[in-house]
Amino acid sequence: MTPLTNGDTMRPAILVTGGAGYIGSHTVITLLEREEEYSNYDIVVVDNLSNAYNRAPNEKKPESLRVIEDLTNKNLHFYPLDIRDAEGLSRVFENHNIDCVIHFAALKAVGESVDKPLEYYQANITGTGTLLEVMRKYGVYKLIYSSSCTVYGEPERLPLDEGHPTGRTLTSPYGRSKYFCEEMMKDLCTSDKNWMVISLRYFNPVGAHISGRIGEDPSGIPNNLMPYIAQVAIGRLNELKVFGNDYKTSDGTGVRDYIHVVDLAEGHVKAIKLFQQHGFGGFHAINLGTGTGYSVLEMISAFERASGRKVPYKIVGRRSGDIAANYADVSLSHRLLGWRAIRTLDDMCKDTWRWQSANPNGFKKV
Ligand code: NAD
Ligand code: WQD
Repeated sequence: MTPLTNGDTMRPAILVTGGAGYIGSHTVITLLEREEEYSNYDIVVVDNLSNAYNRAPNEKKPESLRVIEDLTNKNLHFYPLDIRDAEGLSRVFENHNIDCVIHFAALKAVGESVDKPLEYYQANITGTGTLLEVMRKYGVYKLIYSSSCTVYGEPERLPLDEGHPTGRTLTSPYGRSKYFCEEMMKDLCTSDKNWMVISLRYFNPVGAHISGRIGEDPSGIPNNLMPYIAQVAIGRLNELKVFGNDYKTSDGTGVRDYIHVVDLAEGHVKAIKLFQQHGFGGFHAINLGTGTGYSVLEMISAFERASGRKVPYKIVGRRSGDIAANYADVSLSHRLLGWRAIRTLDDMCKDTWRWQSANPNGFKKV
């Protein structure tokens, strides 16, 4: 697609790596829906489709992005590209007037990362390094990075504030890759004052766009709780295994800070605005969560209420590497971003169910 121009000047663009995936696609649609603020921006997505569904090899765009164009009646630019391909990325920077980058592209399955550490370090660390090099080559210094509460490891205190130590008790190559990337970006910001990096540490994103037409589409058996519950409710899976009921929590099951993916997406939109503030340079880590934790059993009940379906479950042993509880201190996100999560647990469950029930097989229509 030829870049849209505004007279002789190229319109500014936001580059979204991994924008065809779960959180990326919800951020892309949120940006496109913000007519008043981002109508002057092109949205450019780079994704290697390793975890995004494409209907057919000759399709120009993956399904998530096709649906977004349909829902918003707007065009976006898509490049099927791996972020480790420096030449390919450079072409994207030549073709567009990139103003800032939102970097989602990564491998994210914790268990898989234990079996395939090199693949994870390659994709997540080398990929991020390559992206940063290309950004520097083109004088683009504004980056929003998808980090994770996983960088805190086993909590020393709750709620988890951004000053909590990171990198100490990480149990997977995935978690370490997120931590190493943050350290790499801190060093970069120290070395060159041009850089502005906002590392958003997500807690547990769940839910789907209100349309029910885009949502989380895990390949194979889901690893995470919410998509697993949704697939049990729709009948694709028989029952949920609850990993342990002997934690020191209200009902013995694990407690997490679940956050609606559209709230999360809106946090990114707010973060872009920070770049416009004078003097906002350097590396900043900000939690994106709700500040409230729910147990596995509470999640099951909430989903049953929202869907009207039973979610059969059985208690099994703890999952290795799991922690008892985590939830965010969200005061920095309120203060710095002027952002707070507004969607309730009921919204998270209803929206997940709308997506799951309308698309029992995810984007694949079979
Ligand atoms: P996702 O797998 O749905 O999306 C990631 C996208 O990146 C996919 O479309 C995939 O095809 C693409 N991708 C992967 N490697 C790539 C590469 N080398 N080059 C180009 N594209 C590549 O995952 P998600 O849940 O949307 O996560 C997005 C980001 O958020 C990741 O960085 C993840 O680590 C982070 N994160 C996710 C969660 C979560 O629970 N989902 C929590 C915290 C942080
Ligand atoms: C939530 C709770 C499980 C599945 C992971 C990553 C983390 C971040 C978010 C990316 C826990 C329990 C789960 C099941 C269960 N991702 N559970 N049965 O482990 O908090 O975090 O996703 O950065 O890095 O580790 O999320 O959804 O897997 O688990 O009982 O089938 O549900 O034990 O208490 P988690 P989760």
